[in-house]
Amino acid sequence: MSKVIEIADYTWKYINTKMPALKDVNLSIEEGSFVGIIGPNGSGKTTLAYSMDGLIPGQYNGIKKGTVGVFGKEVEEYGRGELQRLVGVVFSDPEAQFTAMTVEIELVFGMENLGLTIPEIRERLEWVTELTDLAHLLEKPPYEISGGQKQRVALAAVLAMMPKVLILDEPTSMLDPVSRMRIFDVLAKLKAEQNNTIIVIEHSLEQLIPLADRMILLVDGETVLDEETQTFFRHTELLLGKSVYPPGALRFFHELSQRDRYRGDYPLTVADASTLLEDLI
Ligand SMILES: Nc1ncnc2c1ncn2[C@@H]1O[C@H](COP(=O)(O)OP(=O)(O)O)[C@@H](O)[C@H]1O
Ligand SMILES: [Mg+2]
Repeated sequence: MSKVIEIADYTWKYINTKMPALKDVNLSIEEGSFVGIIGPNGSGKTTLAYSMDGLIPGQYNGIKKGTVGVFGKEVEEYGRGELQRLVGVVFSDPEAQFTAMTVEIELVFGMENLGLTIPEIRERLEWVTELTDLAHLLEKPPYEISGGQKQRVALAAVLAMMPKVLILDEPTSMLDPVSRMRIFDVLAKLKAEQNNTIIVIEHSLEQLIPLADRMILLVDGETVLDEETQTFFRHTELLLGKSVYPPGALRFFHELSQRDRYRGDYPLTVADASTLLEDLI
């Protein structure tokens, strides 16, 4: 598998701060993988996302050490707008990204900028509206739809550009549980049907864990844990120590294991937990 992102000995300090936001980060991300990034507020997650799509150092002043390579090229070597075609980012506040009068125009806008032909635009529009279930909202002004719908529009707008790497920075932090699930439904479909590399920064572990091939924990700008998802949660004691709370089903099995009542991997979903429990009793 080839690496789409390779970060080596990377330290970033914003110009007006004392401590670096990211310290000695080493990580590489394989093409087609689904990576979850978690960590407390201020741990450097957004800074890491900015670093991977070139906003850092492009739009921010600071001091950089080490290297951030995307598709084999250092981020600074990309021309203006070139990297953003490869790496699409969805933020937690979709509103900030809207400029158009209708959802449809919002979706088409980016594709026009890419210089796609009208048939190409039509085909992609159909694909993303179906994927994100927006067909009934195409004629609406983006400011008239709900928060969850807005976030689906933001996601659809980025997907329409077909970036090879998709980064979502806390995409559901402003959404209710149902809207959150719908965003993760889209991600699940993407994972199943496409070969994008998907990086999701998210607090809501319950939805993230079943999709993530790999999980990274950032604390105070450092990668504290970077493992395949199943292995990651063997470190539950460490996670709890860092105020990361795995889903209840997983913690239940961790508790049993602490009491010597269970040995083995922790279940990552409620369904897995039920199966394990049936075997136990
Ligand atoms: N534009 C900025 N200028 C100065 N410091 C910043 C800026 N953005 C973030 N920081 C600082 O960098 C650290 C990491 O922030 P951030 O990457 O936003 O963390 P997270 O996304 O995990 O909450 C924090 O200490 C934050 O205060
Ligand atoms: Mg953040």
